[in-house]
Amino acid sequence: MLGKANEHVAAMEKPPPKSWSLRRKLIVTVVAIVAVVALAVGLGVGLTRGGGSDDDGGDDDQNSGGGGGGDDTDGVPEDGPDRDETWKPKVGDSWQIILKYPLDLQSTDDINPDVAVYDLDLYDNDKETFRMLQDAGKKVICYFSAGSWENWRDDKDDWDEADLGDELDGWPDERWANVSSPGVRDIIKGRIELAWRKGCDAIDPDNVDGYNNENGLGLTADDAVDFMRFMAEEAQSHKMAIGLKNAGEIIPDVIDFIDFSVNEQCVEYAECDTFADFVDADKPVFNIEYPSGAPDKVTAKVSGEICSTEGDATGSEGFSKVIKKMILDGWVEYCDGKTYTSKVQD
Ligand SMILES: *[C@@H]1O[C@H](CO)[C@@H](O)[C@H](O)[C@H]1NC(C)=O
Repeated sequence: MLGKANEHVAAMEKPPPKSWSLRRKLIVTVVAIVAVVALAVGLGVGLTRGGGSDDDGGDDDQNSGGGGGGDDTDGVPEDGPDRDETWKPKVGDSWQIILKYPLDLQSTDDINPDVAVYDLDLYDNDKETFRMLQDAGKKVICYFSAGSWENWRDDKDDWDEADLGDELDGWPDERWANVSSPGVRDIIKGRIELAWRKGCDAIDPDNVDGYNNENGLGLTADDAVDFMRFMAEEAQSHKMAIGLKNAGEIIPDVIDFIDFSVNEQCVEYAECDTFADFVDADKPVFNIEYPSGAPDKVTAKVSGEICSTEGDATGSEGFSKVIKKMILDGWVEYCDGKTYTSKVQD
């Protein structure tokens, strides 16, 4: 496992070629000069405008002082909804989860399937999409990665290298983050604020189980509990609910302040019993299974096993089950045998 991770690092670093041709040196020099000139012009313009107020497109505006309402540079309002109470999801709530693509809604008529809850990527979907779902009476859970650094995010340079550990096994574009670090927590606080500003009813922070993986940072289950508590307080301060993604080991330590579970493959790994604590506490388990054959070729035998509460599915009474492809696109199958394909922007 470690060996595999190291291979990824080596592949990523790609050292420059040892000897550069003259032509290449020339091109590089010209590009560098153009860049310097462009930067100088840009700086000059910025200074004469008395600039510095524009942020860099990131969503962290906690240093910007004043900020008199209106839209931020990303078109998201500076304040989210002023709610009286936090949404309490119910055991058995129906749901759909799509993380691969943004949902494609022109109006509430496009909403398909007609389920109670949508779990969608915080960044990829715009606030109008969330608003349309809510206008149709749906609740919106906003997904983001909380425990990993992603090399494609706008804020990727805000992370301190010292806070980053090993790559995630199978996800070479992500690295485990030190969830105890104040710098990391500031960034996550900004993400939770963004979820509020975009109107999310709840957050689904992923990758909080670094302690279960080769993480390179010595992360422990206690670190994860403390991190969940931190995020729960931030979410609650904006009247948003919060879920625990997988991380079965820490359920007893966090269940009092967590509103629901998002679980992958508890049937496949015969561990639904662990997550049943949530149902016992009157909180839903949103369960996803990824059987081979999805989409459309999931046999009745396989879906029957997933949808039962026996065998590998023991303990899953009351779970809100969806059968999905691992990439989490628009396709979904439910335990009544019906399948749907939500329209997405792919
Ligand atoms: C993670 O952050 C905490 C808090 O700043 C620090 O005490 C700890 O040493 C860090 N862990 C690593 C592996 O850097």
